[in-house]
Amino acid sequence: MSNIRNAEKAPEGHRRIDWVSRHMPVLNKIIDLHSSKKPFDGIKMAVCIHLEAKSAYMAKAFKECGAEVVITGSNPLSTQDAIAAALVEDGIEVYAWHAATTEEYNNHIRQTIDTGPQLIIDDGGDLITMLHKDRPDLLPDVIGGAEETTTGLIRLRAMAEEGKLAFPVMAVNDAMCKYLFDNRYGTGQSVWDGIMRTTNLLISGKTVVVSGFGWCGRGVAMRAAGLGANVIITEVEPVHALEAAVEGFRVMTMKEAAPLGDIFVTTTGCREIISTDHIPLLKEGAILSNAGHFDCEINKEALKAYGEHTGQPRENIDEYKLKNGRRVYLLGEGRLVNLAAGDGHPAEIMDLSFALQFGAMEYLVNEKGNLDNNVLQLPDELDRQTAALKLESMGIEIDCLSCSQEEYLKSWQVE
Ligand SMILES: NC(=O)c1ccc[n+]([C@@H]2O[C@H](COP(=O)([O-])OP(=O)(O)OC[C@H]3O[C@@H](n4cnc5c(N)ncnc54)[C@H](O)[C@@H]3O)[C@@H](O)[C@H]2O)c1
Repeated sequence: MSNIRNAEKAPEGHRRIDWVSRHMPVLNKIIDLHSSKKPFDGIKMAVCIHLEAKSAYMAKAFKECGAEVVITGSNPLSTQDAIAAALVEDGIEVYAWHAATTEEYNNHIRQTIDTGPQLIIDDGGDLITMLHKDRPDLLPDVIGGAEETTTGLIRLRAMAEEGKLAFPVMAVNDAMCKYLFDNRYGTGQSVWDGIMRTTNLLISGKTVVVSGFGWCGRGVAMRAAGLGANVIITEVEPVHALEAAVEGFRVMTMKEAAPLGDIFVTTTGCREIISTDHIPLLKEGAILSNAGHFDCEINKEALKAYGEHTGQPRENIDEYKLKNGRRVYLLGEGRLVNLAAGDGHPAEIMDLSFALQFGAMEYLVNEKGNLDNNVLQLPDELDRQTAALKLESMGIEIDCLSCSQEEYLKSWQVE
């Protein structure tokens, strides 16, 4: 059983999945190596993720390797109905549709949970937290889970600290082949793709305010500078703020930055970054967008309290007329702009992230019963294997340590 809209959009979904599949060589190699062995034979797997072409291809990879896959969206706006329809045709159970209400969104996750998964891939922690709260009877069947993003890990680590996490969860986000590429280069490119296709405006010469100079913020700021923007960073962590300043960006408080910015991108994983104190200071035409996991970084209630919604000049742009007469624009309802108003990260980047997800699931199955009910790092070897496969697909060879070099690096006596 599935719960989707627009089954007739399946052909478009198949075309999009086919396109990304040609740009995900590491995942393809993994499918080649595992599809005949079927390492997930008969295992029920639930996936809660931004439901677009790349994640669909990952779901198909798991199915091809034996898993019974059920999938739902991890954000109401990032689900693409064409992709959902294509997956249903491919024999994957789907509970999701684009622009679901909060109630529908929660229902879709609940229906996914009700299938009784043994392995879980989550993106933001919504499925794993709901499973613990609402269906504790299903917890004993779960072998383990994996979490895709920074915000989800914050939530799951808080659960583990309180001793509430009932199974091991692999911290896929914290693998080097994830955050160094997905969070930095993926978000760096796809956020600007989302903003540019949504607004059709010039970035060059604009003042761009990036909040948070973590892995996502570094990528977003780097690409904004590359597009010719004047970049301002706001931060709360002194080392990251210093790094931004030494990188050549202006660093200041949001109160100072609010009247200067033409375009704002929040990437903090925190809340109320642009809020009551800042909204009256925004300049005419300011564009507000968010790349953090939840839509709480731009305080939409504060925007509504100080402004009136005056229309939608383009798809995914909401115009607010402020009490001081200025107009400001909110992109993608303040949800992750690269997914709510775009197609997410490039396929070549998600190739790495999803190869790690595959490795994490395989590790959980192989180590069943041996792992703590905690948030766990992926083995370093998996990072190295993933990078090596990607390099191979790019036709890049690297040197190997000679015996003499290995000896030199291990010893404190060799000169
Ligand atoms: N849009 C996407 O496709 C995408 C991809 C990966 C991660 N994410 C999400 O983006 C968010 C950031 O992820 P990350 O990996 O960059 O995290 P990170 O921990 O590397 O960086 C977050 C940064 O924000 C700063 N920060 C925290 N609170 C702040 C505040 N109030 N004001 C200013 N700065 C503040 C932190 O000091 C830190 O430097 C998370 O919600 C994550 O889940 C989104």
